[in-house]
Amino acid sequence: MSTQFPNPAEMYEQFYGPGIFQPLTEAFVRFVSPKKSERVLDLACGTGLVARHIAPLIGTEGKITAVDINPVMLAVARQQTPSAGASIEWLEGDATQLDLKTEFDLVLCQQGLQFFSDKSAALKQMRKLLVKGGRIGIATWQAIEQHKVFEEFAKVEVRHLAPLGVSYEDLLAPFSLHDVNQIRSFLAEAGFSKIEITPHTIQTRFPDPKTFARKMETAYGAVIPAFVQNPDAFLKFLDAVENETRDLVAQYTQGEIMTFPMIANLTIAYVE
Ligand SMILES: C[S@@+](CC[C@H](N)C(=O)[O-])C[C@H]1O[C@@H](n2cnc3c(N)ncnc32)[C@H](O)[C@@H]1O
Repeated sequence: MSTQFPNPAEMYEQFYGPGIFQPLTEAFVRFVSPKKSERVLDLACGTGLVARHIAPLIGTEGKITAVDINPVMLAVARQQTPSAGASIEWLEGDATQLDLKTEFDLVLCQQGLQFFSDKSAALKQMRKLLVKGGRIGIATWQAIEQHKVFEEFAKVEVRHLAPLGVSYEDLLAPFSLHDVNQIRSFLAEAGFSKIEITPHTIQTRFPDPKTFARKMETAYGAVIPAFVQNPDAFLKFLDAVENETRDLVAQYTQGEIMTFPMIANLTIAYVE
């Protein structure tokens, strides 16, 4: 990647972190309620927001294993100041082909499952890694129609990215696992029971709205590799998206803050 713009994983941590994923992490962790001394797997850990948040809750008797397929995200995770409490082991790995020998009390997957090529295979492996009585927590976004800002951005983005081979459906990947019946059936098929799914709305907050489009597109590159493969085209793309979304950003700006709601489905299920 060119040095002309920031590393997308750092941008993810600095921009999407406080704006979206930190408020979501707080709600998600309250929902799954990690206990003292639990052994926890944070799958698709990204830059480690969930792992760091739960470390003090499970304490020094607990242990966290945090796995992600993207070494760039893991590098940023490792650079962050460690939290007090449980130690965190950062591992590179594909959720659909996990090679872990440890048993876990809790598996967490915040905004990761929708990106896995084989969700059934991944959930079956997670189920095998959990002890009897163990539980899985999953957070996924509701449909794109509930997320107007991202829907409008995707319409702008696809005009520029279609020639690079990125489709509208690719851009909607974060919102693709929105159907609660589908989530239920994947979990039931993998052997989980007592499945509970509840919607939760977070209010995003982005200071300095005029930088929103550029930062968002740079951070987005962390999960869609085609965005960062061609640096020159990417810079032109940033300019174009910034120009074409100015009115949209203004519409969601209050004072000096851009803010809009996002709705997640929070899921918990058990191994009986
Ligand atoms: C939207 S980020 C979520 C990161 C983190 N859980 C959070 O809440 O901030 C999605 C993450 O899923 C990871 N990912 C995608 N496919 C994966 C796979 N097959 N195995 C492991 N991680 C994967 C990406 O590398 C990325 O870090």
